Amino acid sequence: MVAIAIIGAQWGDEGKGKIVDLLSGKAQMIVRYSGGANAGHTVVNEHGEFRLHLVPVGIFNTNATCVISNGVALDPESLLEELDNLDFLNVTPERLLISDRAQIVLPYHKLLDSLEEGRRGDNAIGTTLRGIGPAYVDKTARRGIRAGDLKDLTTLRDKLQAPLNYVNSLLTKVYETAPISEDELYENLSKISQRIAPHIVQTELVIHEAIQQGKSILLEGAQGALLDLDFGTYPYVTSSHPGAGGAYQGTGINPSNIDHVVGIFKAYCTRVGAGPFPTLMEPDFDALIREKAGEYGATTGRPRSCGWFDGPMARLATLVNGFTSAAIARLDVLDDVEKIKICTHYELDGEPLLYPPSDPATLEKCKPIYEELPGWKGPTSNINNFQDLPELTKNYVNRLEEIIGAPIDLLSVGPRREQNIVIREFS
Ligand code: IMP
Repeated sequence: MVAIAIIGAQWGDEGKGKIVDLLSGKAQMIVRYSGGANAGHTVVNEHGEFRLHLVPVGIFNTNATCVISNGVALDPESLLEELDNLDFLNVTPERLLISDRAQIVLPYHKLLDSLEEGRRGDNAIGTTLRGIGPAYVDKTARRGIRAGDLKDLTTLRDKLQAPLNYVNSLLTKVYETAPISEDELYENLSKISQRIAPHIVQTELVIHEAIQQGKSILLEGAQGALLDLDFGTYPYVTSSHPGAGGAYQGTGINPSNIDHVVGIFKAYCTRVGAGPFPTLMEPDFDALIREKAGEYGATTGRPRSCGWFDGPMARLATLVNGFTSAAIARLDVLDDVEKIKICTHYELDGEPLLYPPSDPATLEKCKPIYEELPGWKGPTSNINNFQDLPELTKNYVNRLEEIIGAPIDLLSVGPRREQNIVIREFS
């Protein structure tokens, strides 16, 4: 048995979709374990270009079982839309399993997401407005509706009472807006339930059975380590745990069953939404990289800010997640850059810092200290072998490896499946 967790090591959008797509050809089970439809995983394959938000990228391997596990905040409307777009794959209930413990994102979570963002004013987080935060709030407040609740429509109406009482008080008394109609919500969920109920099972048991049978399992992360609720740039984070801890908790797999934890880094950094970004590039350069790399959100279409590789953030991601391997995505985006900067550490009050501080106001005061490497000024996207890369590219990759503190085993040099350089196999 080999279980590999694929984890975004920055602020999301590192190119996990492509890497999961690549590795899922060899996996027998692919499990999406955290976040929700706030994620957008782009895949380019023989069927075309796809942006998946909830369905695991492994769905394109028609021999594998895909699982949306308990850690996910599941928006059923978004899921059904995605399944309609994947109609040609004939996704049967046997091929896509949904955990009965997964929290359901309801229409009022999306409404609350936008009302709360409005209320934050200048301090808005810049959420994706997909209702993710409010759905996880209901989970921890223990008034959430779970996928399993959609299987029994006779008890669902009763289960809706407590959350609806709460949300309608909030909507009418705090936000002074119209309440949610119980009948409409119930009718809507009843329709949805007909389609998704056959997929809903106790997935932790199915995953354990696969482990017992020695199957290869890929754990597909969403977002990134720096958006983690505890270890990210709080409060500018998402409401789940995108890292290794989330992979255990969000699936029910125990720690001894995960063999490899792969951190996916971009060759530079990007960030979408608000929050500190110490290595943000100079405005012209930021725009240049964004246009060249098409750095626009796969879910929201928002422009992503671009920055240089951030060593302190990378070290923290490795420290917290224990990466056994790293992959560098989008290396080719730097092909034309004259001089490439790497932030090796920060400086705070004249003292060097190897790791970011946890307090956002202190982080704002940190000065990124850069090392400058000469660019290789040549194309890399047709190269498939590490030895064939320009020496200056190898130098850059080797320097990143020293900073990350985990072996770099894979480089991605273009959007297509074959545009990769495998340095060592992950398994
Ligand atoms: P939420 O997850 O929609 O609540 O948004 C919280 C923060 O996480 C915002 O800064 C979002 O831009 C960011 N975020 C959420 N999902 C993603 C993602 O898939 N990629 C990049 N940023 C994300």
